Amino acid sequence: MLITIRPAVEQDVDAIVEMVNRFAAQNIMLPRSEESVRRTLADWLVAVAFDPITGTERVAGFGSLVALSETLVEIRSLAIHEEFQGQGIGSMLVPALVEMARERDFEQVCALTLRPSFFTRLGFEIVDRWSISPKVWQACIYCAKFHRCDEVAVLMPLVARPAKEEIKAPAWNGLLRYDAWQPLKLAYQRKVDEPAKVR
Ligand SMILES: CC(C)(COP(=O)(O)OP(=O)(O)OC[C@H]1O[C@@H](n2cnc3c(N)ncnc32)[C@H](O)[C@@H]1OP(=O)(O)O)[C@@H](O)C(=O)NCCC(=O)NCCS
Repeated sequence: MLITIRPAVEQDVDAIVEMVNRFAAQNIMLPRSEESVRRTLADWLVAVAFDPITGTERVAGFGSLVALSETLVEIRSLAIHEEFQGQGIGSMLVPALVEMARERDFEQVCALTLRPSFFTRLGFEIVDRWSISPKVWQACIYCAKFHRCDEVAVLMPLVARPAKEEIKAPAWNGLLRYDAWQPLKLAYQRKVDEPAKVR
């Protein structure tokens, strides 16, 4: 079986809608309408399984990107068909979606998941779900588990975190040993840090 990851096309819509809504009926993902899949088709990747014996192709899985802000994007509607689960296809699809997010200049990619270990193995970190944009919760009103949400938020930065700016001691003050020139803070720190003088 040969697996290929490629952008979704019109012919994939029925398979995507059928599988998303089958998993949605089991309360493990949110439903998507056919109209919403068609409208956002450019934001979907599918994993296609090619069977060399029969010469046929099947949609084995897929996932989509949903922009939550100019910098943050969510991986949503990630699913692998039951017959293909546990064979590493999800682990191919997620990095491909991350790459797509990077190419689209997003700075962070997040997901809400019942399988946080699947995402942390792929380089995501678990974060406080309320720290993610409130937009991520807009779709949740359609969820049967709205009042007892058990999903975990995971996040991956796509740009390097800015390193602490290195500020050199100004040449005119060779005695300054601190990494930043902050006279007020230094004055305050000296007072606080100084051990109380015992007479
Ligand atoms: C969650 C889901 C997307 C994972 O996709 P998948 O293709 O089954 O994932 P992988 O096969 O890459 O990895 C799944 C597990 O199988 C193991 N695995 C990976 N490659 C494997 C292989 N070749 N053979 C056997 N197991 C393998 C991994 O270690 C992983 O273990 P984990 O549970 O610790 O993460 C998929 O199971 C799914 O669609 N579930 C139902 C829908 C759903 O829950 N969607 C929401 C996801 S946010």
